[in-house]
Amino acid sequence: MMLTSSINLSTMLGMGVLLLAIGGLIGPASGQRTPTISYITQEQIKDIGGTVEMECAVLYASDYSVHWVKSSNDRSDVVFLSTGSSLVLKDSRFSLRYDLSSTTYTLQIKDIQETDAGIYQCQVVLSVTNKISAEVALNVRRPPIISDNSTQSLVVSEGQPAQMECYASGYPVPQITWRRENNAILPTAFSHD
Ligand SMILES: *[C@@H]1O[C@H](CO)[C@@H](O)[C@H](O)[C@H]1NC(C)=O
Repeated sequence: MMLTSSINLSTMLGMGVLLLAIGGLIGPASGQRTPTISYITQEQIKDIGGTVEMECAVLYASDYSVHWVKSSNDRSDVVFLSTGSSLVLKDSRFSLRYDLSSTTYTLQIKDIQETDAGIYQCQVVLSVTNKISAEVALNVRRPPIISDNSTQSLVVSEGQPAQMECYASGYPVPQITWRRENNAILPTAFSHD
């Protein structure tokens, strides 16, 4: 009876409702609820040398292992940081705290380096093939730098087009604007039709 009504609901409202309904049915009967990540820290922007704390709060996860894993922004180069309340990574700048009352795993990084930037993922491993995860991005501010491969000098004949290139990096991503030396006036027509 109850199952029938939840399936009807799910066909109306989508898969989310079905998962919720099944969780609700199994939960009280077996005394076991589906582990969830109830909170994760929002994206962080920090200066080099600063400190960051990233929190991951879990529910019904006491029977499962919880990990912090770091990956670079392009998802290559994955580093395993912690399992449960112990840190795996041997780096004195990193520490991990587990708060029993809020079931929160807090990862702290001190003296932040440029290489600490990336995606920090909190994972609850349910089985070999199944895990739930949530993630927080750590961005590290870097001063803007104009790359050496930017145009340094250019010789063109009168009437010919000239192309000057400027490559810059940094975080936040720098905005590039051009101006002429001594603020001399630039031609207003940048392109011909
Ligand atoms: C110039 O150098 C930067 C790195 O400094 C690089 O990202 C960019 O692709 C280079 N551009 C060219 C055209 O070589």
